[in-house]
Amino acid sequence: MMGERTNEAYIATTKSAEASPVVPESCTKLVFSVEESVGALAKALRAFEKFNVNLLHIESRPSKQSLNKYDFFIDCDNSQGGLDDALKELKTITSDVDVLARVVKQPDVVPWFPHKIQDLDVFANQILSYGSELDADHPGFKDPVYRARRKEFADIAYNYRHGQPIPRVEYTKEEIETWGTIYKELTKLYPTHACQEFNHIFPLLIDNCGFREDNIPQLEDVSNFLKDCTGFTLRPVAGLLSSRDFLAGLAFRVFHSTQYIRHPSVPMYTPEPDVCHELFGHVPLFADEGFAQFSQEIGLASLGAPDEYIAQLATCYWFTVEFGLCRQNGHLKAYGAGLLSSFGELEYCLSGKPEIKAFDPDQTGVQEYPITKFQPVYFTTESFAEAKAKLKAFAKKIPRKYTVRYNAYTSSIEALDNSRQIGNFAAKIKTDVETLEEALKKISHR
Ligand SMILES: [Fe+2]
Repeated sequence: MMGERTNEAYIATTKSAEASPVVPESCTKLVFSVEESVGALAKALRAFEKFNVNLLHIESRPSKQSLNKYDFFIDCDNSQGGLDDALKELKTITSDVDVLARVVKQPDVVPWFPHKIQDLDVFANQILSYGSELDADHPGFKDPVYRARRKEFADIAYNYRHGQPIPRVEYTKEEIETWGTIYKELTKLYPTHACQEFNHIFPLLIDNCGFREDNIPQLEDVSNFLKDCTGFTLRPVAGLLSSRDFLAGLAFRVFHSTQYIRHPSVPMYTPEPDVCHELFGHVPLFADEGFAQFSQEIGLASLGAPDEYIAQLATCYWFTVEFGLCRQNGHLKAYGAGLLSSFGELEYCLSGKPEIKAFDPDQTGVQEYPITKFQPVYFTTESFAEAKAKLKAFAKKIPRKYTVRYNAYTSSIEALDNSRQIGNFAAKIKTDVETLEEALKKISHR
């Protein structure tokens, strides 16, 4: 256990990398016979009481074997108490005891997920690949200086813990030149190819976070900016996270961001996310409330979801947050980070060549896709609100025994699985509705 169960912030704090079991439901069905006499049944039932066995159902009928006996059919909970001892005792009272069925339900397994924002620290030790270990076909594979630099960045992320400022990095002249090359090319396309929300926010990043051709913005400054806009924050990540872990971060409005930059030999290509992909592609839209809500919904839907649903949610994420298109004023525009950070694919996606389908989580979630080539198919949405509504409808199909919500005051996930939690939630909504009513009244009197 991570902590004592003192209030709702500490619900279900069982911390296990594997799973947290739910109380098993189990039942044993048996039949016994007793003589037709006053107190005979009560005497037999005392055997169950003595060993704390809870009876769920009891039914009687005249015995077919003996005229002066009654058969009693009992369902009892065998998950607690001493059923075997009770049966032994029962057999001393009546010899006609027969166990008809013993059902032991296997415990349901709910994959562990973070409940408090601090729990995201667990992921720092759960990366699938370390950010300094490059594949043989990586442009920086044979460059020892680049590899040493990658290790510096990986160590920052590996040692980062929630609540700390993200360490500032002094980028080299060469790194800044790589950034500048990309900056120059991408900013030519944004006015015509990026969605309205992106074009609204990008100048704010120039004004507030040091987005310039000759400067790579610091994650800490960008994270603080996003926090002021939508509550989203960045945290550095050392390498690739599993889909489950990565999506869980979004439930807390936390985005795991790389901090290193691609190899300078090919500034317009990177085989993996780098700081250019994060800052050009992801960051601007996380400052938009509608997009932030949509992203968080994917994260909330993922918490404790079975693996097959995680795969579908990750694919939905791919075709929206990474490669999504939207329709604005009758024109297709890009909002996906993989597009907004790639000069080539940003042009290509709106060229009329690729197939365009409407975003529908049931279909989108099972669409196959290439990782290293331009996408042959893109999905479009009319608005982030529409995408969120579709995602929420999809999330209702995920088998979970409770509903989750994010409490921004405590930075924690609430599982709405008891009347007290739900009552607290209702009280919060009531206060908000009263505020809304008052505001509506005031503007209607203007
Ligand atoms: Fe990305």
